[in-house]
Amino acid sequence: MSTPTPFILVINGPNLNLLGRRRPEIYGSETLDDINRRIAEAMPEGYALEARQSNSEGDIIDAIHEAGFDSACKGIILNAGAYTHYSYAIADAIEAVETPVIEVHLSNVDAREDFRRTSVIAPVCRGSISGFGSMSYILAAKALTDEKD
Ligand code: DQA
Repeated sequence: MSTPTPFILVINGPNLNLLGRRRPEIYGSETLDDINRRIAEAMPEGYALEARQSNSEGDIIDAIHEAGFDSACKGIILNAGAYTHYSYAIADAIEAVETPVIEVHLSNVDAREDFRRTSVIAPVCRGSISGFGSMSYILAAKALTDEKD
């Protein structure tokens, strides 16, 4: 039996399917497909990238459960959108799984409205990267695939 290809899963939450059209002055002009392509291009050799997007909390939780116990999944990059700020259900899912999860945001959430300064998922994530546009995802992918770890 051959060993499965290690992969990184990127999950984008609500409203991120609208990237490119949604508040480009904050989120930039790249579409979600553009961003996923950039992350895939930046992946080190030997790693695959899987990408999901959902506007539903339950789908995001299911995706975390599925990849979170798959030994081929070396990490999850999660932009939970506004769920970041209040979804204890997503926080519990992250806490429950074995795979490390990195929280990412395109915008600098600490430089925006007060409610965006609270992340209920940050305490159960391996780390958080915010404010670098699509580079936030690439930095997270680099952290998760760093062989020195
Ligand atoms: C976001 C920041 C969130 O506050 C917001 O609700 C989003 C996008 C970001 O990537 O900057 O939907 O996660």
